[in-house]
Amino acid sequence: MPAPDDFTVTPYEVKGRIDYARLRELFGTQEVTDELRARLRRLAGGDLHPLIARGTYYSHRDLAHLLDRYERGHPFFLYSGRGPSGPLHVSHLAAFDLCRWFQERLHVPMYIQITDDEKFWARAGLSREETVRWGMENLYDILAVGFDPARTRVFFDSKSIGALYPLAIRVARKIPYSTVKAVFGFEPSQNIGLVFYTALQTVPCFWPSWAEDREVPCLIPCGIDQDPHFRVTRDIAEGLGYPKPALLHSQMIPGLLGDQAMSTTGSAADNALFLNDPPKVVDRKVKNAFTGGRATVEEQRRLGANPDICSVFALWKTRFAESDQRLAEVERGCRSGSLLCGECKLSVLERIHAFYATHAAAREKAKEWAESAIVTAAPKPV
Ligand code: TRP
Repeated sequence: MPAPDDFTVTPYEVKGRIDYARLRELFGTQEVTDELRARLRRLAGGDLHPLIARGTYYSHRDLAHLLDRYERGHPFFLYSGRGPSGPLHVSHLAAFDLCRWFQERLHVPMYIQITDDEKFWARAGLSREETVRWGMENLYDILAVGFDPARTRVFFDSKSIGALYPLAIRVARKIPYSTVKAVFGFEPSQNIGLVFYTALQTVPCFWPSWAEDREVPCLIPCGIDQDPHFRVTRDIAEGLGYPKPALLHSQMIPGLLGDQAMSTTGSAADNALFLNDPPKVVDRKVKNAFTGGRATVEEQRRLGANPDICSVFALWKTRFAESDQRLAEVERGCRSGSLLCGECKLSVLERIHAFYATHAAAREKAKEWAESAIVTAAPKPV
């Protein structure tokens, strides 16, 4: 008998050592193949976003089909979102940075959902004031990745409910309680907010089709933990006369302390680089970060270190290596023992600090248009 899987991945819980190939099998998703990567590269005009090129985005649903339609002249839109439970960390920007890249290359619209309602329902310790405040703070950070104001709209759930609700009513009627109970594993004590919530996360997938009275396909870059919501969405799409959204899934970016997935709850503040961390805190966190290094310098020089389990290597790979060559250099140095962890950390820190400075400036600019990007009106009365 095969060993039972000792990991859990749902929108509300990620734990254990995740076997990503197995997870894809369990979820029944498709693999991002070299062929698909080559196709994306061609469509994008010759280069590929590092998160796709380096394999962080590794799984999909119907992306090839979406691209077929795109090539036949059928434009799509992008959709991703954030549940505002606290400050963003650097790796939360991954999906949005990928969306920004798609938007730049293919000139497609972007819809961002900020789910202040979801996080209020999911986290007993959060107040309404906090989820709304974090919602706006997170939104500034998200817009700062470089979205085009002319092509980017925001659903901030509690502020956009009038725009979302006419469609949410229809969506909710299609989702049986037994489905959400099975998909999310809700206990009888679960508040009913989250039971309804998956309807609201579905609405943006169909919203442009509804507004424009024609099929507008949707592509959702997101962490693979969000897939269960969109399985529900895909199951009901046709019954409502809308196209099923396509998905592009990332692996969970590992935390600085060597966990498989980052958690921002409880005492895990040192596990991630928050975008509002002052430089000294960033320094401390990276200096204390878990690596694949050896116990002594002598051993490391002799045996080399292991980038596969190293949280600092994950930083290089997912954002801070400016080229694939640079990443390969770090990896070679690490495995061979010529690059020691201290040195490697200092060099990634230089790039992290430069990124924080650029980001802070972009964030100030984003504040100027964030409010006006929030959709508040329904496109039609019913
Ligand atoms: N549920 C997501 C979270 O907890 C937020 C979200 C809303 C989202 N819509 C989305 C994430 C679409 C990815 C794609 O963070």
